[in-house]
Amino acid sequence: MTTTPRDPMTARDRFSAACRRDPVDRPPVWIMRQAGRYMSSYRALRERAHFLEICRRPELSLEATMMAVDQLEVDAAILFSDILIPLAPMGLSVDFDEGGPKVSPVRDLAAIDKLSTSVVGELGYVADAVTLIRKTLDSRPDPLPLLGFSGSPFTLATYAIEGGTTKNKHALRRMVWDHPDALHALLDKLATVVGPYCSMQVAAGVHAIQLFDTWGGLLTEDEWRRFSLPYTQRVIRYLRQAHPQVPIIHYALDATHLVPGLADLQCDVLSVDHKEPLSLIREKTGRAFALQGNVEPGVMTASTTAIARAVENCLDDYGAHPGHIVNLGHGITPDARVEAAQTFVRVAKEHGAALWSA
Ligand code: CP3
Repeated sequence: MTTTPRDPMTARDRFSAACRRDPVDRPPVWIMRQAGRYMSSYRALRERAHFLEICRRPELSLEATMMAVDQLEVDAAILFSDILIPLAPMGLSVDFDEGGPKVSPVRDLAAIDKLSTSVVGELGYVADAVTLIRKTLDSRPDPLPLLGFSGSPFTLATYAIEGGTTKNKHALRRMVWDHPDALHALLDKLATVVGPYCSMQVAAGVHAIQLFDTWGGLLTEDEWRRFSLPYTQRVIRYLRQAHPQVPIIHYALDATHLVPGLADLQCDVLSVDHKEPLSLIREKTGRAFALQGNVEPGVMTASTTAIARAVENCLDDYGAHPGHIVNLGHGITPDARVEAAQTFVRVAKEHGAALWSA
């Protein structure tokens, strides 16, 4: 039996205990993409600055990060940036417009060969943003943990090949079928970039790293083992060696067919969508890691009663076992209500505490 810590924990102890699967006073809660267009304060910030400018100017990144922290009272802050940021210094053009991200696509070896892998020197503004956010968090009572992140090599490759968010991802599928060597060459470069990029964020002060493999679930298990797993494993090995204490969270969307194979990643926390209950994933993966999630994001547009029910169901399903971080199964959407996100956090805290003190 695990014993429940009787005194309230500090926010940083609670988060790292959940990642390590140690007992908590209640599971921590935060919301994927917690700073975004569903907030009027974020839309006002966007009136003043383009999205990329917010990412590139540390004081604006700080402002976006803290608006989510202050309005939602979450248990973790996440660096305001984007997964596509490291693609620009590799030599790709990256922009964002109404239709989402636009990347100059690379689809052959000649173009891939030209990509640079020494990008950290050009991403100093990300480290500066982390330093500034850490300083702000540290000056407050019960400072929150700060999460850094990157896209996984496979998900970054998907954007680099597709040139943006596309429906059927046929350019990527053609690479898988016709040009696996070129795809491997690109993934190799991305894995070389992502490790040091995350390490830079840790050195600047983040407490944990989340790797977003948003598109890995497009692959069959066999393809995933060839094109995603080994490259993410390389990043994880790099980080473990450089920062053995820093928890690594792996986010997998639409990937229930990859469970239990996902256990081979050896991350600390697996973050999953809502398609299967956490209790089932926990059994299928042999309790190999903590789980983060997994409330359906659409509930953030529904009634307060529905949100409370969804959060309570998620907590009850996982139960008072160590190793749960409450979150959505995917990012919060622009049509969500801020009050809905606030309800989500409040119910997660109240119900989580009741569950753990029972
Ligand atoms: O608050 C936070 O969580 C931190 C910031 C954050 C953003 N993007 C800000 C953002 C994080 C962690 C991300 C991750 C991200 N970015 C992912 C992985 C998570 C997921 O949703 O699967 C992916 C795939 C991206 C790529 C990306 N960035 C897309 C597809 C888009 C356009 C669609 C959309 O959701 O807006 C973006 C733009 C983006 N990233 C915005 C924000 C707040 C909106 C840009 C704007 O203000 O116009």
